[in-house]
Amino acid sequence: MTSDLDPAKLPRHVAIIMDGNGRWAEKRALNRIRGHEEGAESVRAIVRAGREIGIRWLTLYAFSEENWKRPKYEIEALMNLLKRFLTAELREMLDNGIRLRFIGRIGKLPQDVQEALKETAERTSNNKDMVLTLALSYGGRQEISDALKEIARQIESGALSSGEISQELIAQRLYTAQMPDPDLLIRTGGEYRVSNFLLWQIAYTEIYTTPVPWPEFKKQEFLEAIGDYQKRERRFGALGED
Ligand code: IPE
Ligand code: IPE
Ligand code: MG
Repeated sequence: MTSDLDPAKLPRHVAIIMDGNGRWAEKRALNRIRGHEEGAESVRAIVRAGREIGIRWLTLYAFSEENWKRPKYEIEALMNLLKRFLTAELREMLDNGIRLRFIGRIGKLPQDVQEALKETAERTSNNKDMVLTLALSYGGRQEISDALKEIARQIESGALSSGEISQELIAQRLYTAQMPDPDLLIRTGGEYRVSNFLLWQIAYTEIYTTPVPWPEFKKQEFLEAIGDYQKRERRFGALGED
């Protein structure tokens, strides 16, 4: 089943832009919310599959800072789904060594969702097998500008000098401090863009796009993406092997 994958060449960190829920639903003459509900099933399937094959870091783009522009009822439905997901999956996360984290401007989320997130993160904080990070109210440019503000504050207070600014220091001020950069970025739903996701972190990430909408992206599609990744030659600007 997973035997085609080379365990020595697994991506350490997989990030996913889970796109295409609305179009999946509209194509079936269903409400967009139904697409998000089926999308939540894909999240379950991919978290489970990722854990099974040994992915250590899985980061899911669940709600962008720009998604606040959507209609209120859709935002509310997404927030409710998120809360339900956290409650329903807690047991599975605890049983499988999955630690939940979140990145983004979490303070903009409804209070009850913030509390559910913090509680789930707290209760899973000792889990060591996989880190599942949800990007919520997340924007890559916002993240970089938050990091710059923090660095500027430290310079103003004298805790830091401008000469100490380096790539490593910037990375440590991002929401993703302590996380490795993604090895593989998957975008479902057929678009070829990064939509403000992990801009700094994807400098050398391998990108995989598929027309499959997120509600149809399950274990088999995930394994295909990883299989494709395993055929790539990563060069990081240097010369290749052959
Ligand atoms: C992705 O699906 C989920 C979120 C952005 C929250 P979309 O809702 O963007 O679905 P499409 O792109 O309209 O099909
Ligand atoms: C990206 O999808 C954001 C998430 C998947 C959460 P969007 O549907 O919001 O992106 P655009 O608008 O097509 O760029
Ligand atoms: Mg979309």
